[in-house]
Amino acid sequence: MALWGGRFSDAPTDAVFALSRSVHFDWRLAPYDLRSSLSHLKVIRANGLLQEGVAKEIEQALRELIMEVESGKFSAIDSDEDVHSALERGLTEKIGATGGSLRAGRSRNDQVATDLKLFAIDHMLEVASSITQLQAALLAKASEYGDASAPGFTHMQHAQPILFGHEIAKHVQSFSRDLERIQDWLIRTSVSPLGSGALAGSGLALDPSATARDLGFASSSANSIDAVSDRDFVAEALFILSMIGVHLSRIGEEWCIWATTEFGWAQVADAYSTGSSIMPQKKNPDMAELARGKAGRLIGNLTAVLAMLKGLPFAYNRDLQEDKEPLFDSLDTVLLVLPAVTGMVATTNFDRAKMLAAAPLGFSLATEIADFLVGAHVPFAEAHEAAGKCVALCEKDGIQLDQLSDQQFKSIHSALTPEIRKVLTVQGAIASRTTVGATGPTAFADQIKSATTNLSRLAKVIAAQRKAFSEMMGA
Ligand code: ARG
Repeated sequence: MALWGGRFSDAPTDAVFALSRSVHFDWRLAPYDLRSSLSHLKVIRANGLLQEGVAKEIEQALRELIMEVESGKFSAIDSDEDVHSALERGLTEKIGATGGSLRAGRSRNDQVATDLKLFAIDHMLEVASSITQLQAALLAKASEYGDASAPGFTHMQHAQPILFGHEIAKHVQSFSRDLERIQDWLIRTSVSPLGSGALAGSGLALDPSATARDLGFASSSANSIDAVSDRDFVAEALFILSMIGVHLSRIGEEWCIWATTEFGWAQVADAYSTGSSIMPQKKNPDMAELARGKAGRLIGNLTAVLAMLKGLPFAYNRDLQEDKEPLFDSLDTVLLVLPAVTGMVATTNFDRAKMLAAAPLGFSLATEIADFLVGAHVPFAEAHEAAGKCVALCEKDGIQLDQLSDQQFKSIHSALTPEIRKVLTVQGAIASRTTVGATGPTAFADQIKSATTNLSRLAKVIAAQRKAFSEMMGA
């Protein structure tokens, strides 16, 4: 049943209907559409726009539909155009023509913007909660390897030794920023479009602030034209989801590298690996690869929506119907990848001995020599030069830095006394890193402590937000 038709003499052709139709994907908005209908009903009822008997009947029918949609008893059919028309069909099937009364003062334009915001808020909160679980797994793994040494890399070349826990814990920081982004997005998204009508607001006695409050929004829109055309919240959510995807892809890449035979650092649990159909020995880190690969579609979805919005005239244009599938897909994707990566992180074991053996290779202690000379008041440029000469000598003789003789050190720089040997150890180099956020054991312990405090604070905030949202939905 179309929601229009009074002025038309011909029904849409099959091709027109097929292209217009969105119910096969926007049906997911049904619970949010019904909930916002209850709020709309509340105001038009309170402001005397409906007879009490009719209002009661509509409320009853809406509440039945909420349950029937949930149980699957009521769903969209082939002739429904979108979620809004399908649900209006549901109402009129129950109570006849009065089912159409709810359309007073409301357009599908403010309705769909409201529904999509509610959907987005609900699911972004789920993403946030799933991120906190990944962070908990990362923090646990970081603590487990808080005393393991490994080479740290820049340009994928050995740079300086680090604690392997520090390497793992860095990911907690990027996901904390994602959580902050979600919180920040929630503030901007908390503006209700309902009451804006098609584009101009309403001449009927509506109360947009009351519906906003009732739906858990902080305020109602300040401009009705903006309200029905604004999809910033979709684009921003897609950016945040892309960023999360990019962060997950970087974990994926690390796991892939660490699980190679060449590295041999990571033993990915069987439950998080897959085999090969032809090579019996294979154990592939497919979860890590999918985490890496899914970032592509997340970025694609963001690009699709930005391109759709570019140059789009205000107010509502049907182009906006293209906002939903990318958003749904990105939310589904991130919610699929997060738990898999969380499990993979939690169940991977690392080879401490291999990482420790690799830590001093590639002359990763050369900076220690330069820093030692700085301690003896040698200007850094001169110290850097001397340390470089040590490396060159080692390369020529095919030895490691600690294998240089006292005589060789002295010949390179007079301040390179035998004391130098104290700093030429992996443990010594790591322990010397004491600045805030450094890899040294004390700084690392502080880092884990404050990340843990921060995580438990944010997890509480997110749990409270989810509780409030689900209470609003159930009201
Ligand atoms: N299915 C439409 C969408 O997703 C709903 C709004 C339709 N509004 C309109 N004026 N045709 O955007």
